[in-house]
Amino acid sequence: MRDAAPQTIYLKDYTPFGFDVLEVHLIFDLAPNATRITSRIRFTAKPDAENRDFFLHGEQLKLIRAKIDGEEITPTLTETGLTCEVPEGDFTFEAEVEIDPANNTALEGLYMSNGMYCTQCEAEGFRKITYYPDRPDVMSTFTVRVNGDLPVLLSNGNPVDQGEGFAEWHDPWPKPAYLFALVAGDLVAHSDHFTTISGREVDLNLYVRPGDEGKCAFGMEALKKSMKWDEDVYGREYDLDVFNIVAVDDFNMGAMENKGLNVFNSSAVLASPETATDGNFERIEAIIAHEYFHNWTGNRITCRDWFQLCLKEGLTVFRDAQFTSDVRSAPVKRIGDVIDLRARQFPEDNGPLAHPVRPESFQEINNFYTATVYEKGAEVIGMLKRLVGDQAYAEALDLYFARHDGQACTIEDWLKVFEDVTDRDLSQFKLWYSQAGTPRVKVEEGWSDGTYSLTLSQNIPDTPGQLGKQPMHIPVAVGLLGPNGDEVRETQTLELTEARQSFSFDGLAAKPTASILREFSAPVILEHDVSRDEQAFLLAHDTDPFNRWSAARDLATQTLLAMITENAAPHADYLDGVLSVLRDDDLDPAYRALMLWLPTQSELAGMLADRGVTPDPMAIWTAGETLRQAMAQHAQDLLPRLHSQMKVDATYRPDAEQSGKRSLGSGVLFLTTRLDGGTLAKREYAKADNMTLQLAALNALLRAGQGQEELAGFYSQWQADRLVIDKWFGLQVSLADPDQTCIVAQKLTEHPDFHWKTPNRFRSVLGPLAMNHAGFHHADGKSYELLADWLMRLDPVNPQTTARMCSAFQTWKRYDADRQALIRVQLERIAATPDLSRDTTEMISRILDA
Ligand code: PHE
Ligand code: ZN
Repeated sequence: MRDAAPQTIYLKDYTPFGFDVLEVHLIFDLAPNATRITSRIRFTAKPDAENRDFFLHGEQLKLIRAKIDGEEITPTLTETGLTCEVPEGDFTFEAEVEIDPANNTALEGLYMSNGMYCTQCEAEGFRKITYYPDRPDVMSTFTVRVNGDLPVLLSNGNPVDQGEGFAEWHDPWPKPAYLFALVAGDLVAHSDHFTTISGREVDLNLYVRPGDEGKCAFGMEALKKSMKWDEDVYGREYDLDVFNIVAVDDFNMGAMENKGLNVFNSSAVLASPETATDGNFERIEAIIAHEYFHNWTGNRITCRDWFQLCLKEGLTVFRDAQFTSDVRSAPVKRIGDVIDLRARQFPEDNGPLAHPVRPESFQEINNFYTATVYEKGAEVIGMLKRLVGDQAYAEALDLYFARHDGQACTIEDWLKVFEDVTDRDLSQFKLWYSQAGTPRVKVEEGWSDGTYSLTLSQNIPDTPGQLGKQPMHIPVAVGLLGPNGDEVRETQTLELTEARQSFSFDGLAAKPTASILREFSAPVILEHDVSRDEQAFLLAHDTDPFNRWSAARDLATQTLLAMITENAAPHADYLDGVLSVLRDDDLDPAYRALMLWLPTQSELAGMLADRGVTPDPMAIWTAGETLRQAMAQHAQDLLPRLHSQMKVDATYRPDAEQSGKRSLGSGVLFLTTRLDGGTLAKREYAKADNMTLQLAALNALLRAGQGQEELAGFYSQWQADRLVIDKWFGLQVSLADPDQTCIVAQKLTEHPDFHWKTPNRFRSVLGPLAMNHAGFHHADGKSYELLADWLMRLDPVNPQTTARMCSAFQTWKRYDADRQALIRVQLERIAATPDLSRDTTEMISRILDA
């Protein structure tokens, strides 16, 4: 059965449910093709409810029987749910339904993965398990009995009873249905425990498939660190006797914060030094923290409706970023996050899929788990903290937890705690939640008689459905440097609230150089004509590590744009600047490594389009190759010393210090391989004893058109490890030359290990296809066609994953008429697919409307 006809849901139409749920009892009788769920739900009518309709969501359920207060009833069933007459006051609704988890390939509701039962209920998956008011503002306690012939039977909350073939769980904390979870399987536990600040003993378990026991230790340490950090920094204590995490291979997203029973994509939790890279370890630590932090920001305080998604996601991303900054390096984390924001959120905010951090309408909520809601949502919280200060932020958060614990809240509730603590009027600031589009901030400078002035003007571009916007409240952190590089004015936050506004700094002995938007204090695009000399000066002297990096990035951008549009040679000031940073042994290696990265090809394409130049993907690719070659030659004498300096002799640890060294060492290897024909990389590959170094060497070889033997060896070595084989698929596509990308990807889809119904494997080939800019945008259009073919094939199997990947086409209007025509054909072909899911229909039609 396919989706019901698409319907648009609006924030302004919110109405509360007319009933409260007092408690929920569920019994699961597990069977792969016919799982029975028996529910007993106690309802009470809200005395003052406007809406007295009793409607329970339910999709793809076979109703066996239903009762009210013990009497069998015959409810009215539709494709989306059930209605029936109900008595006044309190009553008990019971239902028995049957579902088919083994054939649930959408991975929403109750499904199976390698013989294990698993659930995913956010956002609206619980309705595929049983009839229920499946909305986040309906919160209740759950008692769950699981009957099944499997050794591990889990649900939310605390265990209350267990025996041969059954287990019973009780979750005392009222929660919405989207936080429900059940897992059953032949799993092994990696166990530990944690004592909370007030002395509660908590059992911790990480459940994995037999064979994966050796990949649990790091995730467990990350969990304990997160629990401690949330106590220390936010005063938030864990609230159950157990905290369980389960790793599952088939999962649409990274992980899910179900109360007391987090479910993780195995790629987001399993790691060992031999099989996972430093980058994987860092990501795992952040996701473990993220899901754990949701226990307070998301679970104890949840969202009133799905339009408020950023209430929990923006805040929790912000919290996990604070955690990573504390346990690793703050500047490196900030730079990484900004790179990511520009790569994923800016294109979204400046294209056909642009939507506010708090959207006002949707057809399919699953399409709004976006970089805008998550990452821009987190940026908004960072700006708020900067504007009110750390002290007021802490007080506001305390008030938020005290005032709203146990509630389903809105952005208005969130902002109100800040207004109450600070007495500030945040109505203009609130526009960050409602106005889509990345603000552009134009900078003009003035200098006379010891006074330096900055005039900032803001402009927020039109976005779909939103024309003519109001000025926003933008915190712009600024510091001033004197001619000798000393900081003559420390960082201060200018509050830009008007369309155009001037700020002045007097008493200066000489014209300063301004360092603007330090720490990337607002998610905006700066329009500032800075000379290359000034940028080189900032690269050498800025005391703000973010802006120092930013100066290098801007110089790289300038040189690349000149190479692309004017056929210029690489700028010497850029090459010299990077070289002196590389040479500076006082700088953190991780930070130096970031200086080596060039802006992505897609980012450059966006900048060209912004300047009214149609981007030529091949020219962009060639410029990048040329510049890297020039960098390698320019740094030639330094490379061998730097490479050996970055060797780590100690036992492998994926911490900031060691991974920083490996990161810089790998960057150096990458450059060296352009000069030595692969000699060093081959040697490094042969002796690598961890995945970080093994992959770095393999990448360097493949990028230099070599390494076929190593690639084959890699496959035989790791054949049995699905997470490593995902990497093996992905790197071939991401490192292919532009004219080979489609061919390589196509061939890999014919590989016997291409299990395309598993999202990780599907994404391992089709993800890099879309990300390999010059390969994806090859003029023959074959990559567009290949991606479309696979999206059409995946859609009936897994609409969520299909719809997410449609965003590969969101930037299509940047390109030339020929490419646009080729893409249009594919978009229209997808749109015309019979029975296309609601998810994909919405995405394609928004993209086509561009
Ligand atoms: N709520 C999850 C998180 O941010 C993400 C998620 C959404 C997972 C929807 C599954 C489905 O941690
Ligand atoms: Zn989250």
